[in-house]
Amino acid sequence: MSDEYIAALPLRELAPGSMRAVEIGARDVLLCHTKEGVAAFDSVCSHAQARMSEGRLRGTRLICPLHGASFDARDGRVLAPPATAPLCRHAVRISDGVIEVALAASAAVRISV
Ligand code: FES
Repeated sequence: MSDEYIAALPLRELAPGSMRAVEIGARDVLLCHTKEGVAAFDSVCSHAQARMSEGRLRGTRLICPLHGASFDARDGRVLAPPATAPLCRHAVRISDGVIEVALAASAAVRISV
């Protein structure tokens, strides 16, 4: 992960239980606000690259809109297939009420065949 944190969104604009896509650099980043805090991922499903921002957040479960794989919205691990690889997760911190993200060095996008 990069050590450089970039302002992404005021925390007040991301209600608990909601998610939102933001663009950071050239990356489409999905912010998820669960009861355990805010996490950030590349907004790309690890199964077949669907946009996760078009999916649903149910508690701490993030569900892909295309084939229904689900991921843990706190750390990106797979909870249900067909995905087998985790989402690419970025470091997050809150500074002065602003969500800041340090982008991971590379996307962990994998295409299943
Ligand atoms: S693209 Fe997400 S489960 Fe297939």
